[in-house]
Amino acid sequence: MPATSDWIPIASASDCPPGTSIERVVDGRVVALANVAGVWHALDGLCPHQGGPLGTGQLCGTVLTCPWHGWQFDVVSGRHRLSPTVHQQVYEVRQRDGELFVRWPTVATLPPSDVAEQRGPIA
Ligand code: FES
Repeated sequence: MPATSDWIPIASASDCPPGTSIERVVDGRVVALANVAGVWHALDGLCPHQGGPLGTGQLCGTVLTCPWHGWQFDVVSGRHRLSPTVHQQVYEVRQRDGELFVRWPTVATLPPSDVAEQRGPIA
């Protein structure tokens, strides 16, 4: 059965200290990475309003504010603060040896060995 997700390196842990967020590109998609009191969260980094860079926004607690027009998202759930129907994809994040990895969906048609070679999964 093909794998449905894989762990992909996204950043060094030191790139995103507590209380900050950064932007990275994973597999051609923009991802916002946020550090809430030492716990990292990742979500789709393109704001659904007009495509603003969420990862470069202001992080306050678990709330990330888009720098363009102020839409706010909870980085844990991916939900817009005022409109629960607006929801960003969230990704699981793990740290290993100072590096951060996101759990990323894989292309279901690729056999697991090909996916592992391309992306270097972690156990
Ligand atoms: S593009 Fe994010 S609030 Fe407008």
